[in-house]
Amino acid sequence: MNIITVPTPTEAVERAAAIVADEIRSHAAPVLGFATGRTMESLYALLVARYRKGALDFSSMTSFNLDEYVGIATSAPQSYHTYMHEHLFDQVNMPAGHGHIPDGMAVDLNAECAAYENRIRASGGIHLQLLGIGDTGHIGFNEPPSAFDTRTRPVVLDPVTRQQNAGMFGNNPDAVPERALTMGVGTILDAKRLLLLAVGSGKADIINEALNGPISEKVSATAIRLHDNATLILDEAAASIWK
Ligand code: F6R
Repeated sequence: MNIITVPTPTEAVERAAAIVADEIRSHAAPVLGFATGRTMESLYALLVARYRKGALDFSSMTSFNLDEYVGIATSAPQSYHTYMHEHLFDQVNMPAGHGHIPDGMAVDLNAECAAYENRIRASGGIHLQLLGIGDTGHIGFNEPPSAFDTRTRPVVLDPVTRQQNAGMFGNNPDAVPERALTMGVGTILDAKRLLLLAVGSGKADIINEALNGPISEKVSATAIRLHDNATLILDEAAASIWK
């Protein structure tokens, strides 16, 4: 595992954006795995800036997002559909329909998850999967415990995660959906490359657990230690306990 620690969050995000941009450029038809959340907002802003300068082309790209809430309309401000359209899809020349996100409004959630897995497989697989890390140690919404061979599936969100994500729901954790669809840990590990980005002192404890704790389904981020092409980019604050 390649762990890169840089002094500031700005440098961390720039480093991550450079890796994503290189990955996009290195494939005729890149397949990216995207994450949402606050950490990724500035990364997408940098990708959009590169596109506007003519330095990045999304015209042949396909993407798959990690997760989506269950029961939130895709057009709702809190949905990850809205997030991706606002932060990336509507800002660049990615063809409509090439950005895949699980449908948390599907009538048959299990069928939706199986179809999502099939779509990833049919694309040839994900070249680079972007990851954040949650307070429970989740990657995607793989809450503890999540076996390392799990695939895309409906999950119940941990109360800690509902608290973490309450900001988009009027600071009311009870208003955060109870369930989500998420790629499984196994789905994530199938990506050819993983890139986890974490910044700020709020991530220091869980980064320490992810890197120093036992590899365990209780902290799904520990699974990335089993991947043979995983890169972690941390700022000094996020790396402060682990180091
Ligand atoms: C989002 C996702 C989550 C977040 C994680 C960190 O699609 O899958 O694993 O990456 O919860 O979120 P932030 O960046 O908001 O701290």
